[in-house]
Amino acid sequence: MPDQPTPTLPPDLHAASDHERLAQDRIPADVLAYIEGGSGQELTLRRNRAAFSRHAILPRLLQAMGHGHTRLHLLGQALPHPILLAPVAWQKLVHPQGELDTARGASAMDTCMVLSTLSSCSLEDVAQHAERRWFQLYWQASREHTLALVRRAEAAGYSALVLTLDASVQTPSLRAQRAGFRFPANVQAVNLQGLPPIPLPAIGPDDSAIFQGVMSTAPGWDDLRWLRQQTTLPLLVKGVLREDDALRLRDLGVDAQIVSNHGGRALDGAPASLDRLPALRRALGPDHPLLLDSGIRSGRDVFQAIALGANAVLIGRLQLHALAVGGALGVAHLLRTLREELELCMAQAGCATLADITPDLLLSLPPEASC
Ligand SMILES: Cc1cc2nc3c(=O)[nH]c(=O)nc-3n(C[C@H](O)[C@H](O)[C@H](O)COP(=O)(O)O)c2cc1C
Repeated sequence: MPDQPTPTLPPDLHAASDHERLAQDRIPADVLAYIEGGSGQELTLRRNRAAFSRHAILPRLLQAMGHGHTRLHLLGQALPHPILLAPVAWQKLVHPQGELDTARGASAMDTCMVLSTLSSCSLEDVAQHAERRWFQLYWQASREHTLALVRRAEAAGYSALVLTLDASVQTPSLRAQRAGFRFPANVQAVNLQGLPPIPLPAIGPDDSAIFQGVMSTAPGWDDLRWLRQQTTLPLLVKGVLREDDALRLRDLGVDAQIVSNHGGRALDGAPASLDRLPALRRALGPDHPLLLDSGIRSGRDVFQAIALGANAVLIGRLQLHALAVGGALGVAHLLRTLREELELCMAQAGCATLADITPDLLLSLPPEASC
């Protein structure tokens, strides 16, 4: 067998955010526009990052650190750190191995990967490489089709289901449209290939393509209640921003919630996820697990999210950047660096464990002081 080239990483990778910088030259311009872009005018996309700059960290002095660690328990699972990989579709857009390499990188760092319904590698193939794995579910056009995906995920050993509810319809990304982005033929939603298509209802001349078209098969509260009864796996809902929804979801038996605006790719005009976190934590009390994504680019961002009430966070775009930069090795490097950045921030702020990262460590800055 010919020698395989030893995988290497670029020498100038020092911070998690370096993956974002280096990916800019490694991903074709139209694909990059699709990945980086937010929906519409990108108001929410910008808010996500701005929210992290509106807090300063107030360190505690003279804290004992010798027993420090980043471990946590989440949904009955013991995790070595609070950083998960968010569901991100179509990963073959940036690397020929796609989600398989992401899974290898995640497993090397003992990290939980949440696989998208719209992955470009099959959920069964990815399961061979992802030791810790959850499955992200997009509601399909019928309960029967949705259940078919749930049963496949259960059979393949996924240990939780994440139902995404904020993207039944998405505002197009103007950035991607202007760049002329089109999906290449070799990048397909392979998990859906076995499902017979369900035709959308015919639209009359006075009907709306949105309301009577796409949204006519979107899920409602009854569907969620039904789904809860179909599986014993922990069920998370992704895309929560309102207290009333959060309380209703908890009462319905959802096990955990992900505060998210889909990385600014769903409703343009929605608030930053980070800005909604404190109110959601207050509404739900201390015990209901809350995760957060949208805008995280460093271990310090992870620290802030935990201080404001998150149990754990998910990483979206950065994982694609790392995959483009170095395949599985890039993803592993990203996760190790994020964890080290978090540990450093914890140690400097006087927090030996995640439980020590409390809201009083954050200082809200006036707008003129934020950066
Ligand atoms: C290219 C791309 C594809 C995505 N695909 C999915 C998906 O299939 N399912 C889903 O629930 N979220 C999807 N998301 C949203 C992410 O799970 C996550 O909410 C978001 O990327 C977090 O923001 P960040 O990119 O700033 O970290 C996608 C995001 C991107 C950038």
